[in-house]
Amino acid sequence: MKQSPLLNGNAPASLKSKPAEISGVENLIRTMLKKHKTPFMLIRKSVLEKQFARFKKAFPEVMPYYAIKANPNPKIVRTFAELGASFDVASAAEMKAVLKHGVSPSRIIFANTIKSKEDLAAARRRGVRLMTFDNEAELYKIAESFPKAHVIIRIKVANRGSVVQLSLKFGAEPDQAFYLLRKAKSLGLAPKGVSFHVGSQSTNVENYLQALELTSNIFKEAKENGMPLKIVDIGGGFPIQHFDNEIGINFERMAAVIRKQMKLLFPKQVEFIAEPGRFFAGPAGILVTQVIGRAFRDNQNFYYLNDGVYQDFSGMVFDHCKYEFKTLRRGPKYKSTLAGPTCDSFDILSNNEELPELYPGDIVYTKNIGAYSSASAVPHFNGFEPASIILV
Ligand SMILES: Cc1ncc(COP(=O)(O)O)c(C=O)c1O
Repeated sequence: MKQSPLLNGNAPASLKSKPAEISGVENLIRTMLKKHKTPFMLIRKSVLEKQFARFKKAFPEVMPYYAIKANPNPKIVRTFAELGASFDVASAAEMKAVLKHGVSPSRIIFANTIKSKEDLAAARRRGVRLMTFDNEAELYKIAESFPKAHVIIRIKVANRGSVVQLSLKFGAEPDQAFYLLRKAKSLGLAPKGVSFHVGSQSTNVENYLQALELTSNIFKEAKENGMPLKIVDIGGGFPIQHFDNEIGINFERMAAVIRKQMKLLFPKQVEFIAEPGRFFAGPAGILVTQVIGRAFRDNQNFYYLNDGVYQDFSGMVFDHCKYEFKTLRRGPKYKSTLAGPTCDSFDILSNNEELPELYPGDIVYTKNIGAYSSASAVPHFNGFEPASIILV
């Protein structure tokens, strides 16, 4: 590992503005820097459209309900609404954020298995009838707050290899599913189907295949008992590449295998839906930050950025995500530390980045950061605001 030369913090003239390799992304960043203050998050509309088209092509029979928790920015919601997507919401506030774009309530699923009475009342008022549940107590609450609601049972399925494990918190045991659906019916609700979530950023297609098999067994049991079901909700989890050279992620190949299983296990009249979040919003986002200061500690350079773990890199905590950091500056690289702007030592992004010598004002950017980033950023901590979001 080369040691960084100890510099006084000013860029030597020979290192200033040496754009050796100019990519489309870097050109876009340079253009946007002329008009906007950092930090900013660029959301490329063409990439949102591309991800939607990829999903529709890979799963022609599946209606995607964009899980707006991934990124609820109104411009993103509007883009997907215009493209004809449906929506997965987790609360009354998210419901409102979708409905205000003129989306019909019939294009929304309230896919939080635990809902407050107030949020259920809001769903009833707004006509959002389709929702998930995973336990008996929730059924009593739904029946009281929203008689005749359409319910889908979420079952617990394997999350093997997924980065975010959702079965730790949600899902009925599959062998309880039919009992719970029958209970729903006895309470005056309309049992409609089965849902699952294989965990977010799931690269293991087996999770989907097993979950579909469990779902088909529940469909059979329900049919045999005179309560035919209609909807299979295959959830989210579809993975994206976060690093340029990452291998082992092939959405189209995964989708082909999942689709084959869907065709094998279910009759034609079954309606398939999905709840993609990361896959729709993640690849569109580019976060552009600036070095605000530097120091030499523990034998390496520390660069302090104007965005950190409390803001748009919050996915490092809540989403267990790792990011690739790039800079517009070229030159010999040294092992360096990147940190956020706050006074907390937890706010360190990486101790092990190969970076050229950077100076205050230099740009550090991260691609594929459109999902679970700004959505979970904390406003105002230490007085630092999250990045502004710019749809380009
Ligand atoms: C109920 C539900 N649906 C959909 C999603 C979106 O998942 P992903 O971003 O992995 O596609 C999540 C994510 O947590 C979820 O909890």
